[in-house]
Amino acid sequence: MAAEVYDAVSIIRTKRDGEALTDGQIDWVVRAFTDGTVADYQMSALAMAILLRGMERREIARWTAAMIGTGERMDFSGLRRGGRPLPTTDKHSTGGVGDKITLPLTPLVASYGVAVPQLSGRGLGHTGGTLDKLEAIAGWRADLTGAEMFAQLEAVGGAICAAGSGLAPADKKLYALRDVTGTVEAVPLIASSIMSKKIAEGTASLVLDVKVGAGAFMKTEAQARELAETMVALGRDSGVDTVALLTDMNCPLGRTAGNGLEVAESIEVLSGGGPDDVVELTLALAREMLALAGVDADPAEHLRGGHAMDAWRAMISAQGGDPDAPLPVARHTRDVPAPSAGVVTGLDAMAVGVAAWRLGAGRERQGEPVQAAAGVTMHAKPGDAVAAGQPLFTLHTDTPERFDGAAAALEDAVTFGDAAPARRPLVIDRIA
Ligand code: URA
Repeated sequence: MAAEVYDAVSIIRTKRDGEALTDGQIDWVVRAFTDGTVADYQMSALAMAILLRGMERREIARWTAAMIGTGERMDFSGLRRGGRPLPTTDKHSTGGVGDKITLPLTPLVASYGVAVPQLSGRGLGHTGGTLDKLEAIAGWRADLTGAEMFAQLEAVGGAICAAGSGLAPADKKLYALRDVTGTVEAVPLIASSIMSKKIAEGTASLVLDVKVGAGAFMKTEAQARELAETMVALGRDSGVDTVALLTDMNCPLGRTAGNGLEVAESIEVLSGGGPDDVVELTLALAREMLALAGVDADPAEHLRGGHAMDAWRAMISAQGGDPDAPLPVARHTRDVPAPSAGVVTGLDAMAVGVAAWRLGAGRERQGEPVQAAAGVTMHAKPGDAVAAGQPLFTLHTDTPERFDGAAAALEDAVTFGDAAPARRPLVIDRIA
């Protein structure tokens, strides 16, 4: 039988007209885009057609496999400690404001003798990146070779580092294109993007934190549920034991947004304190990860007992960081006062994310530096009563000309009422 011949235009037309792509079409177009045979403008048109027309589960699974196939796969099945195999588990968040959970969670789970290979990214836009946060620690380095990561996982259990360019290179190229063509928010493309990297990373199990609300990609519960169900199915079909939690992202997590500020808050959690919501979500995700790794334990014990803090110190030191070095402090701060007295009924996560970003905590373009000390401290969260003139926020930056833009973003961020709002559950649902 003659081999099928493919071309980009007929593949775009097929999806534009609402038909499913064949396995052969998907394999070809993903490979041809990665090697440059399919032009960026053609892939942009196809991404828009996918956003508007959707994909069947079979198509998403094949697209994911094709993206994995463009790069290398890591293998942690050989990890050992004391001659025994180490189970592996990982967590991925779809991104939120003040989402520093990876920082306390990774050493907490590692403190139970589980390896947590966390390949993380840098922030772009209003959500922060885990690597940017950790780089606020003096000396800490994000780049580990595969051999260094393997050795660190065996020695200390946790490693948070930059994903090398070898994992799913098709995704890297496609994500950059989606970012500038209004096609980020397509469930098939988000699901395949996240899961291609996580499957290629080689973890045996995975917990997904799928955010819902004003500060998340997925604004509605229905969209978030569809994304979570799609990713759980992709993981399972590829042999990665996957569970998802749907969690609220209308309000920022904790009381800080910004790199060094979030490290400080994470250290409070590792010291047995910290904001209730950060502790609650850290423990909820740790329970899921430990269960998937076959460990029967209550993770609250290792937060209280200091074992998670010991694992944090070992993990930071292993990557050249000084866990005792003071965190950077911004050269300038400004308070934003409450315009009147009342009870806070809402705090808009997106507004806080944008303010932190404008203060210098985030970047506008890939590769730009970020300020380690910039960000927002939130003094009032929903349910708190405030007096007129009391600070609602403290803004931190090294470049004070940024204050006005950040304050403008926060102008309508807080809503007030007479009584505390009904408490929204932080963990909305579990999908397995
Ligand atoms: N994070 C990813 O890695 N990919 C997406 O498409 C969206 C969020």
